[in-house]
Amino acid sequence: KRPAGAPDAKLARPVTKVGVVGAGLMASQLALLFVRRLNVPVVITDLDQSRIDKGLGYIHGEIDKLHAKGRMSQDAVNRAKALVSGSVSKDGFADADFVIEAVFEELGVKKQVFAEVEAVVSPECVLATNTSSLSVTEMGRDLLHPERLVGFHFFNPVAVMPLLEIAATEWTNDTALSTAFVLGKALRKTTVLTQDAAAFVVNRVLLRLLSEVQAAFDEGTDAKTADNALSGMGLPMTPFTLLSMVGLPVAQHVTESLHAAFGDRFAVSQNLQKLIDAKVTSLWVDDEQGGQVLN
Ligand code: CAA
Repeated sequence: KRPAGAPDAKLARPVTKVGVVGAGLMASQLALLFVRRLNVPVVITDLDQSRIDKGLGYIHGEIDKLHAKGRMSQDAVNRAKALVSGSVSKDGFADADFVIEAVFEELGVKKQVFAEVEAVVSPECVLATNTSSLSVTEMGRDLLHPERLVGFHFFNPVAVMPLLEIAATEWTNDTALSTAFVLGKALRKTTVLTQDAAAFVVNRVLLRLLSEVQAAFDEGTDAKTADNALSGMGLPMTPFTLLSMVGLPVAQHVTESLHAAFGDRFAVSQNLQKLIDAKVTSLWVDDEQGGQVLN
């Protein structure tokens, strides 16, 4: 068993370029955080150019918002926008020191991504997964260099949620782990080392709550009532608002992974599945943007 805590920071690999696999919501938020806090080139990749353009559009839009709030100077805006680039090819990862994936939450997809990444990067490049529910160990099993893989799990919205869960596998070496901790600090996150167990610590707890609310939903409590009832309980966000922000299909997928790992403690909601099948993306948080209000 690995001792608790971070290894010596002197072992960390300097990060002068970052690769991000994926251009979806989490991946784009990660790319933005990396470029803002590290001021180094960040390359994002995805399956096609339209996804990349959408991701870059989001990043530029968030940078403009920060500028409008007085959080970034015009110079910093110009520099950040120039440092982020996107390509369908992963060739830009060749000289990256750190590559993180935030693609679809499916083990096979992630393993395929890492195989493609390993074909391009240097053997020293540290690899990370932003998985929220899958085993990092399983992801590392077929890697050429499993010793450089870490779990590096952020929370949505990445810009404001302070926590970063870092997970090591039985193979992860001190260089990779130390790099992860030093990087987490540079990103101004609170880092914790967790066991490589399904959903680490936070999602295990959070999803128990969300899963129970969904069970009540399946048993006849309407979603609005559940949210109203829980709004006075000191939660930063009511459960169905949070589910909408995470994304209903993503939330469902995470619950399914937890159901597979822990059984009925994580119930998969039939009602939520009906909403997903009906392509409802948001309940009431974005009513004016086409969200659906349930009664
Ligand atoms: N992106 C960027 N910035 C955001 C943001 C977003 N999506 N949402 C809020 N912010 C910023 C706001 O711009 C604001 O910044 P300024 O101070 O510069 O103006 C700041 O955050 C506070 O925002 P608000 O005052 O509007 O709202 P708030 O005080 O209610 O806080 C919140 C918003 C931090 C998101 C809070 O509602 C919260 O903590 N919600 C719970 C979030 C949560 O539980 N996340 C975990 C999801 S699970 C997950 O991510 C794991 C997984 O693997 C699936």
